[in-house]
Amino acid sequence: MKLWQKGAPNIDELFERFTIGKDPELDMEIAAYDVIATKAHVEMLASISLLSDAETKLLVAGLDEIYESVLQKKFVIEEGIEDCHSQIELLLTRKLGEVGKKVHSGRSRNDQVLVALKLYAKAELEKIAFQVRLLFELLQRKSDANKNVLMPGYTHMQVAMPSSFGLWFGAYAESLIDDLILLKAAYQIADKNPLGSAAGYGSSFPLDREKTTRDLGFRTPNYNVIYAQMTRGKMEKACATAISSLAATLAKFSMDVCTYAGQDFGFFKLDPKFTTGSSIMPHKQNPDGFELVRAKCNQLQSLPTELQLILTNLNTGYHRDLQILKESLVKGFQTMLDCLAVMQVMVGGLKVSDDLIEQNKYDLLFTVEEVNKRVLKGIPFRDAYKEVGALVNSGKYVAEREVSHSHLGSIGNLATEQIKAAFDLEFEAFER
Ligand code: ARG
Repeated sequence: MKLWQKGAPNIDELFERFTIGKDPELDMEIAAYDVIATKAHVEMLASISLLSDAETKLLVAGLDEIYESVLQKKFVIEEGIEDCHSQIELLLTRKLGEVGKKVHSGRSRNDQVLVALKLYAKAELEKIAFQVRLLFELLQRKSDANKNVLMPGYTHMQVAMPSSFGLWFGAYAESLIDDLILLKAAYQIADKNPLGSAAGYGSSFPLDREKTTRDLGFRTPNYNVIYAQMTRGKMEKACATAISSLAATLAKFSMDVCTYAGQDFGFFKLDPKFTTGSSIMPHKQNPDGFELVRAKCNQLQSLPTELQLILTNLNTGYHRDLQILKESLVKGFQTMLDCLAVMQVMVGGLKVSDDLIEQNKYDLLFTVEEVNKRVLKGIPFRDAYKEVGALVNSGKYVAEREVSHSHLGSIGNLATEQIKAAFDLEFEAFER
């Protein structure tokens, strides 16, 4: 019997399975947060005298027990029960009888799922931000350790100018700062309490929304009850946008490694622990880990579009369509956390080649340096540019490989301290 069934005939089995969908599995992610929010709701109902002290005590103890069972992975959504919200209320009613039936005053599953999803999103965004910090610190260490190791810089896939591995690792560290800004924005959007908006039109009970906001650790309520319901989807999209930005950073990094670890470039040596072999070619040490991060992170970049398309023609108010958003959100968080974990061990094992620049094919990296030397002697840049260009065309250009170049100009300036300070500034939002 469903929460909403009023003795009407049983519903069609196929239809029931279709509408319940993946909720029994996905709701395991949010069940603990639903219990936490239900407890806050119960305590608030007590504070406005809708529950007695004795009833409140019983309900809180019942909810604590359910919370434990969720943590111990013993909580299951039974056959035919729609979602975690229904299951939790069912367990309370089974245990406490009449009292259990009182928790739903002034509440709808619409604000229940919203508040649970926001608490879930906040916790997942925090996990991601902490993993991003670990990756950031690793990249900064690698950047510092390789600041003097020259790396050929390319534009259009053509040899361009000298760069350094320090600069390359540092670029990805700095990229994570901008991803963190989006994670922070998603966090701030999730950090508003929808509880008390009920079905999306509030309640005639004097619900104390400020109290549940404080007790659940939200920054503010979603004040307008209709808007509170509108945040279903909007909040997920903010998370997906942040995940997508971070995914683009990881995918690009992986693409660089896959390209540059190949024999044609030979910039990186992969730690054999993080390679796979071939069943026929005995020499193979393939970068499958980076390839899978690349594929998964490229796929994650479709999440905002996926959510947008689900939401695009929905008008004000709850629609069952919104249930589907959970699939994208949970997948987004889980896949991103997997990728961040594996990236850290793989990047840790990455070794760079320190003698690349000696190869003849990299002579051309130093043409701009040659031009600049002439400029310093007083020759106008455009004339010096033409002189060196003519030398290259005639085959008479001889490169002077000045390794000291790495200490000069922009490639020698890693700004490690400033980058760290900028990261820490954005990270503060997650350290409350
Ligand atoms: N499982 C539902 C969801 O994720 C919970 C809300 C159900 N509300 C309703 N009015 N049918 O959206």
